[in-house]
Amino acid sequence: MTAEPLLRASGIDKAYGPTPALAGADFSLRAGEVVAVMGPSGSGKSTLLHCLAGIVRPDAGTIHYDGRELTALTDGQRSALRRADFGFVFQFGQLVPELTCVENVALPLRLNGERRRSAEEKARTWLTRLEVEDVAGKRPGEISGGQGQRVAVARALVTAPRVIFADEPTGALDSLNGERVMALLTDASRDTGAAVVLVTHEARVAAYSDREVVVRDGSVRDTEWAV
Ligand SMILES: Nc1ncnc2c1ncn2[C@@H]1O[C@H](COP(=O)(O)OP(=O)(O)OP(=O)(O)O)[C@@H](O)[C@H]1O
Ligand SMILES: [Mg+2]
Repeated sequence: MTAEPLLRASGIDKAYGPTPALAGADFSLRAGEVVAVMGPSGSGKSTLLHCLAGIVRPDAGTIHYDGRELTALTDGQRSALRRADFGFVFQFGQLVPELTCVENVALPLRLNGERRRSAEEKARTWLTRLEVEDVAGKRPGEISGGQGQRVAVARALVTAPRVIFADEPTGALDSLNGERVMALLTDASRDTGAAVVLVTHEARVAAYSDREVVVRDGSVRDTEWAV
């Protein structure tokens, strides 16, 4: 028997004005599972990820996370849930330019009320694990794109989230660096038991996942969970 998934979306619709981004999308994620979300540009991958993470409210459909209906929570409840349970690596511009890298990684802990000293200690541990401890004191404008992406991955992991949402985390990297970041991300998720929803264009990156789903014209082809 299969356990109830940690995250399950059913019949998700989302339009931006006249543009349908998602139309009847279904998706499920088990605890600890790494799922790659693939599909052409503009097919709705980022929109799906934003809906699953409770950042964007869908026009129709339901999303259940750990026994709660995400779509029925208030904005405040959803942002508290995101801070407590989710980690993010966004497709574009994710680090706060005014903060150093160690402060950026410590930020989600600080937002959860943790003291600076212990937050920054944990942040340094993750920077070391992502092999960028040497940029801890620099600001995002002073480091390379690849270093920035590693810092962003460290920031997604620092709160020990149950789900990591990563939107093209290797999009800006050369293939060697991209593979290294994927290996570090998936190793860390297996160690901590975090599930990962990983949006990517690249088959090589998707190879790090347990399962792949394909988004096409706003709907998800997910063979295992198809209903
Ligand atoms: N904020 C927005 N306002 C208007 N239209 C949007 C917005 N975000 C996305 N869209 C549109 O919704 C559709 C799906 O976009 P989405 O960003 O989810 O695609 P994607 O699969 O992530 O693409 P990419 O691989 O290029 O990142 C596209 O037609 C896009 O133009
Ligand atoms: Mg996208």
